[in-house]
Amino acid sequence: MNYQWYPGHMTKARRMMQENIKLIDLIIEVVDARIPLSSRNPDIDELGKNKARMILLNKSDLADERENEKWQEYFTQKGFHVVKMNAKSGAGVKNVLPVIMEACKEKIERDKQRGIKNRPIRAMVVGIPNVGKSTFINAFAGKACAKTGNKPGVTKGKQWIRINKNVELLDTPGILWPKFEDQSVGAKLAMIGSMNDQILNLEELSLELLGYLHKCYEGILAQRYELEESEDRLAMLSAVAKNRNCLKKGNELDYAKASNILLEEFRNGKIGRITLEQA
Ligand code: G4P
Repeated sequence: MNYQWYPGHMTKARRMMQENIKLIDLIIEVVDARIPLSSRNPDIDELGKNKARMILLNKSDLADERENEKWQEYFTQKGFHVVKMNAKSGAGVKNVLPVIMEACKEKIERDKQRGIKNRPIRAMVVGIPNVGKSTFINAFAGKACAKTGNKPGVTKGKQWIRINKNVELLDTPGILWPKFEDQSVGAKLAMIGSMNDQILNLEELSLELLGYLHKCYEGILAQRYELEESEDRLAMLSAVAKNRNCLKKGNELDYAKASNILLEEFRNGKIGRITLEQA
C-alpha cells in the first residue's frame, strides 16, 4: 500500500498511537531487514518509553543472512528483544511467543507480587507501511484464535485477538510514518519499493543501486547480467539494458525499461539476498 504522508495524516497516526499505547504492555515493532534503520521511525522510542519492546526483523529472506545476524545483535545491545523472520512463509513466527513472554517477564513478576492473577499481556504491532505488519498478524494470530469483543478503552472498531491465555494482540497495527525528510532514507525506501514509483526518478535510483551493489556485493551484477563491473554506473546500466534486450525504436538503449527490470529483480530477491544498510 502506498501512503501519501502529509502533516494531517501524520498527526492522526501519532494521536492513534498515543491512545493505543496506553492500553498495552508490549510494543512489537516490525522493520524491514534490508533497511533496519530506514524502515524505523525513532519517534516510537519516545512514544513507547516504559513499555517492553520487541523488534521483528521481517523479510529476512530477502536480506543478507550475515547482516541479519549483525542487526539482531545491534538491536539486542540496544535493549530490544529481537526475532528474525519471514512473515510471508511463516518461518521464524513460532519464535515470537516465547520472546514475548521473555520481554514481559518483569510485568508478569510484578503482577504476581501484587496478587494479580491471569491478566494477559497486551501487545500492539507497529511499523511503517509495507514492512509486513498485516502479514505478521495473520501468520501469528490468523486461524488459531478467536477475537474478543470490543472492550472499554479500545478505539471503536478495534478488537483484541486472544493468542493464548497469556497474550492478547490488538487486531489493527499502529502505522508509523517514515522519516522522508532524510534523503538517504527516502532513497532506500524507494529501492525496496515502499514508495510510489510514479513520483520517482527510476533511472537515478537504479544508478544508485548499481553503485551500491558494486561496492558492497562485488561480483553479483557481473554474474546476473553478464557485465563488467566498474565505478561507471551508467556503463553498467547500459550493460543491463543490452543483456535484457531493452531497446527503443532505432535500436537506442531503453534505460527506463532496464531500470524497471533491475529494480523489480532486486525487490523480488532475484539478484540475491541483499541488505542496504550495514550494522
Ligand atoms: P503492512 O501491513 O506493514 O503494510 O505490510 P503487508 O503485511 O501488507 O506486507 C507488504 C508486502 O510484503 C506484501 O506483499 C507481503 O506479502 C510482503 N511480505 C510480508 N512479509 C514478508 C516477508 O517476510 N518476506 C517477503 N518476501 N515478503 C513479505 P505484496 O506485494 O503486497 O503482496 P504479495 O506479494 O504477497 O501478493
